[in-house]
Amino acid sequence: MSKKLLVTGGAGFIGSNFVIDRVKDGDFVLNLDKLTYAGNLKNLIEIEKSPNYVFAQGGIEDPELVSKLLRKHKIDSVVNFAAESHVDRSISGPGEFIFTNVVGTFRLLDTVLGYFKELDSDLKSAFRFLHVSTDEVYGTLSPNDPAFSETTQYAPNSPYSASKASSDHLVRAYLHTYGLPVLTTNCSNNYGPFQFPEKLIPLIIFNAVNGKALPIYGDGKNVRDWLYVGDHCSAIDTVLKRGRVGETYNVGGESEIANIDVVQTICSILDELHPGGAPHNKLITYVKDRPGHDRRYAINCEKLKSELGWKQSETFESGIRKTVKWYLDHIAWVDDIASGAYRNWIEKNYTGR
Ligand code: NAD
Ligand code: TYD
Repeated sequence: MSKKLLVTGGAGFIGSNFVIDRVKDGDFVLNLDKLTYAGNLKNLIEIEKSPNYVFAQGGIEDPELVSKLLRKHKIDSVVNFAAESHVDRSISGPGEFIFTNVVGTFRLLDTVLGYFKELDSDLKSAFRFLHVSTDEVYGTLSPNDPAFSETTQYAPNSPYSASKASSDHLVRAYLHTYGLPVLTTNCSNNYGPFQFPEKLIPLIIFNAVNGKALPIYGDGKNVRDWLYVGDHCSAIDTVLKRGRVGETYNVGGESEIANIDVVQTICSILDELHPGGAPHNKLITYVKDRPGHDRRYAINCEKLKSELGWKQSETFESGIRKTVKWYLDHIAWVDDIASGAYRNWIEKNYTGR
C-alpha cells in the first residue's frame, strides 16, 4: 500500500535520491527542507511536477510549520534525513551541527509525537518515524576489528558523529518514554548522483576534470565502506515498510576501500572516459590530515539482509563507474554549485592546509 511520507532534508544528496524513488513508486511525498548550502531543488526536477509530490521550505526545528504540514497532508510516516552532514565543517563550526542534528531532531520528535497522539488506533499502528543515521556514531576500527554491528557501543569522535549519536539516543528515548514508533538506520559512506562536491568522491571527480589537485588527507590509508546511494534508499524503504518498531538496522556496501584506492579508481575511469587530462593521478596531492580522523569504518549488515531480505544491487566497481559517468553528464549541475559559497568553503578547508 502506498504511504504518505514527510521526508525531511529531501533536497540533499540522499534525501533527493530517496524522494525520486518514492514518488516514482507511487508514495505521496511531502519534502520539508530548509535549503541550506547543501539543499538543491534542481536535484528534484525529474519529479517536481508530479501530483504525489509537494515541497515546503522550512526547518525541522519549527514546530508550528511541521505540525501544520503533518495535519494538512495526513502524514503516516516521517523519514528524517535533515542534518548538517560534513565532518570537516563540524570541525570548523560545530554549533550548526548541535542546533540542527540535536535540537532540530528533538523538536521534530516532539512535534511528531503531538500529532501521533491524536491519531486513531489504526493510524497509530501504521505510523512510523524513521531516523537516518550514520556508522560514524560507533567511532573507529583497527584493521583487524570486526565490522560495526547494531550492538557495537557508541563512541563518536567528531562533533558531527557526536551530534548524530545524540539524535539517535533521543529517537530511542521517544519510543521508550512516549511510545513513538521509531526505527533507526545507521549506514556507511554513500556515493552516487547529486552528492555535494565537498565530500571525497564528487570532490575528486570535479577537481580531476578541472585539472586541480586531488587532496588526500594524511597517508590515504583510512578505510571507508562505500554504499551506492540507490542501495541505501532501497534499504530505508525496506526498513520503513517491514522493519520491527524500535529496532536499529545497519546498512553497508560491504566494500571496504582505502581512500587512496578510491581516488586511483576514479582516476583510471576518468582516463578512459575523459582522456583529455590523462593520467589524472598525476594530480594526487597528500595534505595535512583531518584532526581526529577515524581510521576505518566497516558495517556488518547481516541483520537487514537476513531479517528483511534486503541486499545491495551495486558493487563498488559498478557503482563508481555509474557515478563518474553521472558527474561527467551533469557538469552543469556541479558548475552551478561551485560558485561563491562553495568556493569560500574550499578555500577555508584546503588553502594553507
Ligand atoms: P546533505 O548534507 O547532502 O543534505 C542535508 C539536507 O538537509 C539538505 O538538503 C539541507 O538543506 C537539509 N537541512 C539541513 N538542515 C535542515 C533543517 N534544520 N531543517 C530541514 N532541512 C535541513 O546530507 P546527506 O549526505 O544527504 O545525508 C542525509 C542524512 O544521512 C543525514 O542525516 C546524514 O547524517 C546521514 N548520513 C549520510 C551519509 C553520507 O555518506 N552522505 C552517511 C551516513 C549517514
Ligand atoms: P568524506 O567524504 O568527508 O566522508 P566521512 O568523513 O564522513 O567519511 O571523507 C571520506 C574519506 O575521505 C575520509 O577518510 C576523509 C577523506 N578525505 C580526503 O582524503 N580528502 C578530502 O578532500 C576529503 C573531503 C575527504
